[in-house]
Amino acid sequence: MLLLGESGSGKSTLLSLICGTILPSAGQVHVAGTDIATLSGGKRDRFRAEQIGVIFQQFNLLPFGTVTDNILLPLRFAPERRKRAGDAKVTALALCTSLGLPDDVVSAKASSLSVGQQQRVAVARALIGQPPLIIADEPTSALDATSQTAFLELLFQQIADSASSLLMVSHDPRLGDRFDRVVRMEDIARIERAAA
Ligand SMILES: Nc1ncnc2c1ncn2[C@@H]1O[C@H](COP(=O)(O)OP(=O)(O)OP(=O)(O)O)[C@@H](O)[C@H]1O
Ligand SMILES: [Mg+2]
Repeated sequence: MLLLGESGSGKSTLLSLICGTILPSAGQVHVAGTDIATLSGGKRDRFRAEQIGVIFQQFNLLPFGTVTDNILLPLRFAPERRKRAGDAKVTALALCTSLGLPDDVVSAKASSLSVGQQQRVAVARALIGQPPLIIADEPTSALDATSQTAFLELLFQQIADSASSLLMVSHDPRLGDRFDRVVRMEDIARIERAAA
């Protein structure tokens, strides 16, 4: 699903609600059949690690960890996902290869990689162990225009080859064709102010 909407309309906030990193002051958020507000803090963290792979705008890699350390990180908190990943180091290397990263990059420090390479590592980290949901908040905004297109093609290919669904935020409505569902968020408070 593609999530569109003006700046400030609440797209990133909605993703944080789905991830359970913030809780709603009203209403309920159900993810994969679970009302996440009913989970305790620890259970919510584990639920997130099991169910959701997140690709941040600024990658959020551990700079001093190797590429492998970074990709394996979510498995530490998610035993089911770790099982699905099989031999996790082999799976991490296979993901890197399919994302067009050179083999020797796996032992490099994340901070030594180019921006485009770091974002591919972030994709591998999100995909490992096939979480049902991949969330990406404007994942191309740190890349130049040419790298953006190449990156998105790779991301869509990886998602097509995986069992995961993609929920992505973008400012580009042209990407709508690539998704089975497009939702546009409106800043209701702004609309009400304009109408008053
Ligand atoms: N935890 C929170 N509780 C209440 N309001 C918040 C919270 N976090 C952000 N906001 C407010 O919600 C609004 C939406 O912010 P948000 O970052 O979700 O927008 P966005 O659609 O992602 O914008 P952009 O396209 O610029 O990234 C902003 O006015 C912001 O100040
Ligand atoms: Mg945002």
